[in-house]
Amino acid sequence: MPESVPDTELIARAAQIRLQAYAPYSGFLVGAALRGGSGEIYTGVNVENIAYPEGTCAEAGAIAALCAAGGRQIRAIAIIADAPEPVAPCGGCRQKIAEFAAPDLVVTMATTSGAICQLPLQALLPAAFGRSHFAPPQRGGDEG
Ligand code: THU
Repeated sequence: MPESVPDTELIARAAQIRLQAYAPYSGFLVGAALRGGSGEIYTGVNVENIAYPEGTCAEAGAIAALCAAGGRQIRAIAIIADAPEPVAPCGGCRQKIAEFAAPDLVVTMATTSGAICQLPLQALLPAAFGRSHFAPPQRGGDEG
């Protein structure tokens, strides 16, 4: 459902939390907000590190907050940055989102100046590696 109506509350929360991003090296502040299975909102920001590869994306922060609260489903997600075009999640974050994605999840990408692009996760990560390829034994952490 790529034509779905933009979730303005979710975009606003992503824009609000973006100001807390820790991005002293790139100067590129990113905010992410997602809706869990009950419609509740979790947010995250990018957190960079002087050891550059150790930096984490905003989406990863929001997903960590979801899991810490016991959530295991993403019903909607919005990402926002001050960029010429709506910022698409990086490849690694597409896979992280896919882990918890509700069926037909739509990803909302936005800019601080109001541009919005919405695409199904399926379009952002076609032929994704998933549980149908590899079903690890359940060792806990996945229930709830
Ligand atoms: N970044 C995100 O947080 N999310 C994205 O979807 C794209 C990139 C961050 C990583 C890094 O801190 C900065 O943006 C520049 O790449």
